Amino acid sequence: MEVKDFEQVLHAQLGDQFDVITLLEQIDSTNAEAIRRMQALQETSQLIVGLSQSAGRGRRGRQWMSPRGAGLYISFTRAFAQPLAELQGLSLITALSVAEAITELGVSNVQLKWPNDVLVGRKKLAGILLETCQNGRQPVIVFGIGINLDLPDSAVAQIDRPVTDVRRELGTQFNERTAPDLLVAFCQNIHLKLAEFLESGFAQFRDSWNAIDAYLLDNVVIINGDQQSRGVYQGVDDAGALMLLDDVRGLREIKGGEVFPSMRSAEEYSSDAIAGLQGSSSDSSEHEA
Ligand code: BTN
Repeated sequence: MEVKDFEQVLHAQLGDQFDVITLLEQIDSTNAEAIRRMQALQETSQLIVGLSQSAGRGRRGRQWMSPRGAGLYISFTRAFAQPLAELQGLSLITALSVAEAITELGVSNVQLKWPNDVLVGRKKLAGILLETCQNGRQPVIVFGIGINLDLPDSAVAQIDRPVTDVRRELGTQFNERTAPDLLVAFCQNIHLKLAEFLESGFAQFRDSWNAIDAYLLDNVVIINGDQQSRGVYQGVDDAGALMLLDDVRGLREIKGGEVFPSMRSAEEYSSDAIAGLQGSSSDSSEHEA
């Protein structure tokens, strides 16, 4: 699909949801661009879609490699009246919306990995990075979503975690409408979820999350900085925190960290490796959940 047609679809389908919609052929990072525009123009309801990024940002300071055609690189911004402490769970509902939009497209067995990875068959298909900035007194959250669309085989081989993409999962149904359809379905889904979240919090989404959580009742290792916990993963609670039946300390609520299926996979994963299209370092004010 031509870039101008893509842009037209976005304006026609999502024009009532955002004040500004921008489709960029090339940008350093759609999250960085959203923050710059927010600071310069005070635009708090923007959707920015990049066709490629030269400095895409991943979680924990890693890079999200973003060649043209390989992925969908999306950021949208939203101001909130509530303090950040009351917004825990936002990144989980974002992942849930991505998972539902991908399922709606026809992909089967879409799963989630706490706090905000979208997987198919335990392979990473999409990642989410929420960043915060301030607009006067109001916190503004930049929702950054990277969805693997059509990764070159060389990238799949290079990445040190199992990854997949929409083309591989959809097979012959994948076509030039797939990216715009997915983007529109996601934006419509998250729009509704945000309204429901602001009305009644995360608890209403808990069952939907746990129903497709890839690691429910599995033995897992949680790494948070230099802390390690092992135990049986019990899903998420009403606040979106991870519940772990810790081998040593009994049932615990965990609010940060990364989930691994085994100690070996945790050890194999190094912070500067390329993982799910993530490479190394950048600075960002990451919003954990
Ligand atoms: C992760 O590490 O899993 C999160 C990756 C988030 C990548 C997306 S791509 C669009 C947006 N702009 C960025 O620079 N990062 C996010």
